[in-house]
Amino acid sequence: MTNALGLAKPRAPRRPAARRSNFELYSWLFMRISGMALVVLVLGHLFIMNILDGGVHRINFGFVAGRWASPFWQMWDLAMLWLAQIHGGNGLRTVINDYARKDATRFWLKILLYVSMVLIISLGTFVIFTFDPNITD
Ligand code: HEM
Repeated sequence: MTNALGLAKPRAPRRPAARRSNFELYSWLFMRISGMALVVLVLGHLFIMNILDGGVHRINFGFVAGRWASPFWQMWDLAMLWLAQIHGGNGLRTVINDYARKDATRFWLKILLYVSMVLIISLGTFVIFTFDPNITD
C-alpha cells in the first residue's frame, strides 16, 4: 500500500486507541489552575487566621464554631482541603515517578500516597459537614 506521494505506509503498528490518554495533559493543566486558586485560598486563609484583628490570639473553639456556622467559610475550607490534597498529591505523584528506581518502590509509595489522600480528604470533609458547636450535650 502506498499513499498519494507513492510512499509506503509505516509498518510499525499504531498504539491501540485504548492505551492513548490525555491524563498527563489534564494533570499538568490542573496543577496550574489549582495553583492559582490556592494562591487566593491559602493566602486569604493565612491573612485571616494570622494577621487580621488579633491573629492567632483570637482563635479558639468559639472562633472556629462561628466561622463554620457560615456556608461560605465551610466551602472555602472545603475547597482548600480538596485542592491542597489533590494538588499536593498529584505533585508528589510526579516526584515519586521521577525518583523511585524500582517498580515495586514506585508502586507502594503511590499506594501509600493515594490511601493518605483519600483518608485526609474523607476525614476533613466529614469534620467540616458534621461539626457540632454544642459540645456540652
Ligand atoms: C500558593 C499556591 C500554589 C501554587 C501557585 C502552586 C503551583 C504549582 C505548580 C504550577 C506546580 C507544577 C510544577 C511543575 O509541573 O513543574 C506545583 C507543583 C507542586 N505543588 Fe504546588 N502550588 C501551590 C500550593 C501548593 C500546596 C499548598 C501544596 C501542598 C499541599 C503544593 C504541593 C506541590 C507539590 C508537591 C508539587 C510537585 C513539585 C514538583 O513537581 O517538583 N503546592 N505547584
